[in-house]
Amino acid sequence: MPVDPRVSLLDFLRDGLGLSGTKKGCNQGACGACTVLVDGERVLACLALAVQFQGCSISTIEGLAQNGELHPLQRAFVEHDGLQCGYCTPGQICSAIGMAEELRRGVPSHVTEDLSATPIRLDHDELRERMSGNLCRCGAYNGIVDAISEIYADGRL
Ligand code: FES
Ligand code: FES
Repeated sequence: MPVDPRVSLLDFLRDGLGLSGTKKGCNQGACGACTVLVDGERVLACLALAVQFQGCSISTIEGLAQNGELHPLQRAFVEHDGLQCGYCTPGQICSAIGMAEELRRGVPSHVTEDLSATPIRLDHDELRERMSGNLCRCGAYNGIVDAISEIYADGRL
């Protein structure tokens, strides 16, 4: 953990631990590029202080591949051309993995119609609503949506 309690989780990951996969876009909570998973939940690392998370399990894009195999969602992003420059991609992928966990737990969004459903089905509107915090300046949205849909849509959780 950093000595200075004012250090953000994002700066600690990138500068303190050398994990530069997590990106700094806006540094003010508006773009989603810095999304990481803390105990499985998506968190904007630029808005969080590193000291808040002592003892927590933090996953960044670097930790998603297992035994040399890409995470299925990473592979789908490649296959569907879900990126151009790639700057937003780590945040998109971590956010989508966290989103899938929210769906499994039945956490509703602004557009969820059946509030008692568990898991919640990832349809067109749910995907767009739940991923709306992750911006892509290259506009690779069609590929991003296709990749996430292939892995998580229609009950494929
Ligand atoms: S860098 Fe954190 S939301 Fe943009
Ligand atoms: S691929 Fe360039 S910002 Fe999304």
